Amino acid sequence: MDKGVIQAIKEKLDIADIVRRYVELKPVSGRWMGACPFHQETKPSMSVNSEEGFFYCFGCQASGDVFDFYSRINGLDFSETLEQLAAEAGIELKPGKVDPDAAKRSSERRIITEMHEISASYFSRMLEMREGRSAREYLLKRGINSEIIEKFRLGYSSDDWQGLQNFLVSKKYTIDHAVKGGLLSKNDRGRTYDRFRGRLIFPIQSLSGKIIAFGGRIIIEGEPKYLNSSDTPIYKKGDHLYGLSQARTTIARTKKALLTEGYMDVLSLHQFGYTNACGVLGTALTPDQVKRLSGFCSRVDLVFDGDSAGMKAALRSAEMILAQGVACGVVVLPDGEDVDSILQTKGAEGFQKFLDEARDGLDFCIATLKAGHAPKEIMAWAEKFISHLSTDALKAFYLPKLASGLGVAEIGLRSVLSGSGASASIEKKSERQSGLRIVPVGSHENDDKYFLRFAVRHPEFVQELFERGVSQVLSSHWGKKLWSKIAAHSGEDILPYLDNSEKSFWTGCRMQPSLEGDELSNEWRHLCRVIAKKRFSVGRKQLMDALRQAQAQGDRERVEAYLKALNDSVWRDDEQH
Ligand code: UTP
Ligand code: MN
Repeated sequence: MDKGVIQAIKEKLDIADIVRRYVELKPVSGRWMGACPFHQETKPSMSVNSEEGFFYCFGCQASGDVFDFYSRINGLDFSETLEQLAAEAGIELKPGKVDPDAAKRSSERRIITEMHEISASYFSRMLEMREGRSAREYLLKRGINSEIIEKFRLGYSSDDWQGLQNFLVSKKYTIDHAVKGGLLSKNDRGRTYDRFRGRLIFPIQSLSGKIIAFGGRIIIEGEPKYLNSSDTPIYKKGDHLYGLSQARTTIARTKKALLTEGYMDVLSLHQFGYTNACGVLGTALTPDQVKRLSGFCSRVDLVFDGDSAGMKAALRSAEMILAQGVACGVVVLPDGEDVDSILQTKGAEGFQKFLDEARDGLDFCIATLKAGHAPKEIMAWAEKFISHLSTDALKAFYLPKLASGLGVAEIGLRSVLSGSGASASIEKKSERQSGLRIVPVGSHENDDKYFLRFAVRHPEFVQELFERGVSQVLSSHWGKKLWSKIAAHSGEDILPYLDNSEKSFWTGCRMQPSLEGDELSNEWRHLCRVIAKKRFSVGRKQLMDALRQAQAQGDRERVEAYLKALNDSVWRDDEQH
């Protein structure tokens, strides 16, 4: 990673300008404050520091620099974020001296992305041409208008086994890349042919609007009804949501998303004015998808079919959404109906009735469980649900609701959960799910934080802290690691080097005003005394251990040497205090 480029981008961009696109910011005593977009919040809990280039939420400890904010709210990975922010800052990214494999992979990804874009144009041209007549008629029959066709870049793949292949070859793309990108298939004899034939084409876009995969619906009878792109270097099933790119601005503005199951459902919802709708793509909802959504909305309404598969999917999805701290509503449609059929027959008005009656997500989960499960299974579910929550705060929020919903005493539920080790697993789970590490609050780490807090708030003292041997008095792995970063990067922008838990600690400290004058010198003197004392006791403990070992081994000489050293150290300690 080229830190120079990152620095240059940060200097060009004001983090407050970027944040302001998603969150209203108000000046509060020299800082910007706004409602945090990363957890459910209406009060201004997030502070943005333009000068130092970071943000920090007092509510959920989300924190970091402009890269962290941008990638999290847009659900982008680091390289995508770098690319987009560099473009905004008008800074050119040099290929740099990356390893040749990475360079090859990245050029492959670029080519495959390009091929998707031009394939989408090919499919959409097909839809307009003579070959596309049956597909156009099909869309008409399904009530989809031309505005939606354009907005979602719908297309048609003709019944030709070589159509797209010939087109891509004419555009100088290799068959190899087209196969790797999932646009062509290869049979046992090595013959290649178009993957999508005779299908209505639904381009699948990334959050930033790039076409990365396709779905295709058969328009005459046949199997399978929908065919989707397989996993490719640019697309992983379960990472993306259909329509999210089109829905994102509405979702960001209203903070609400509608999540449904089908391609056609998403199209109809947009056509009937529900422009915050997106869809899971033929798979169960995944934590990655929820994370992508929760970056910019605080409520997700699930609209699923009323059959048993739909109910199951709704239960699993609701669970996952609640676990991320996002509010959830559940609409279960009457058996045999789907969103699309309701909209097309009863219009927005008819659908809105169902939406207005959405059930609270947790209530839905509990009711569904109670209806068809044994007490043992219900309690196992509760245990799992709590263990998946991404923060302790959420646990505190849901426990009483869960207890009353299940009809058990909260204290009883609590003891069941603590006995099962659910709380111990929370840390690891959440680390994986939210990308946030919850810092274990052992006493050692808290002790370390005293020194580290001072170092972060007063960088001018870092050198002297180093000389006074603060590293020897830090006791936790976490503290030692953070200190080594602080020491190594003093005087430069440290944020790109920190992990999430370090970032929240660092930005949290920088939020506090630094000490001045007498207050500062008193604090510094006190700190030096604590360091000296700690170093002394650490040294003494080492000597005692060594002494005990020498005694156990019957090594007289060493025993005497250590005894003498211990005596001397007592004398030194007296002198110091
Ligand atoms: P449905 O079978 O409910 O279809 O599948 P649908 O969305 O209502 O489609 P229409 O109205 O008949 O056109 C729901 C979703 O499951 C995925 C697709 O994403 C589909 O939209 N699916 C379904 C597949 O991926 N493959 C299939 O063969 C069927
Ligand atoms: Mn349908």
